[in-house]
Amino acid sequence: MRYLNPSDALELVPQPLAIVTAGDPDRPWERGGMAAAWVSRVSWTPPLVAVAMARERYTYRLVRKYGGFVVHVVSRRFLKMALEVFGSLSGAAVDKFEVAGVKPARAEAVTAPVIPGAPVVIECRFVGEYEVGDHVLVVGEAVRAYSQPGEEPVVWYDSSAAEIRKLTG
Ligand SMILES: Cc1cc2nc3c(=O)[nH]c(=O)nc-3n(C[C@H](O)[C@H](O)[C@H](O)COP(=O)(O)O)c2cc1C
Repeated sequence: MRYLNPSDALELVPQPLAIVTAGDPDRPWERGGMAAAWVSRVSWTPPLVAVAMARERYTYRLVRKYGGFVVHVVSRRFLKMALEVFGSLSGAAVDKFEVAGVKPARAEAVTAPVIPGAPVVIECRFVGEYEVGDHVLVVGEAVRAYSQPGEEPVVWYDSSAAEIRKLTG
């Protein structure tokens, strides 16, 4: 047994990897999205999902402005886009959809952009937010969802990061 730095140990808890989008899909400067690993279901009834977002994220601003967001589960096919575009660039500086070469569709039940072809897409209506340390826990109710069967979701944890980055190269 060896002791770990508790904060480092939390990096070893497997997380999903999602792209969370928000805004008006038809207006390039009013749409955005970010890679997010801190995404979890937090209630059965109603079906609630929480995303921990740093307050300075452009995506957070769009969630608050438009009252909704879309969680896209990422498969290997979307990994490079998730890491190098949605997880690295700022929506305040670039239209990430244009950079990624993606024409976003309109979400059906909320105002938000959808990345076509993502293996699982969950549209969420904003229901509340909670201060949690240096992040804001943004909570939404899953109101519509659809899937593109056949692709496995990526699991994100620190020791797989190097391996995953190799796959994106
Ligand atoms: C694998 C990965 C996971 C991430 N998870 C989160 C997260 O859960 N919460 C968060 O606030 N930022 C997270 N980020 C950082 C944002 O995706 C990144 O800062 C992004 O550029 C923010 O874009 P925006 O300012 O346009 O919203 C993650 C980045 C990566 C690469």
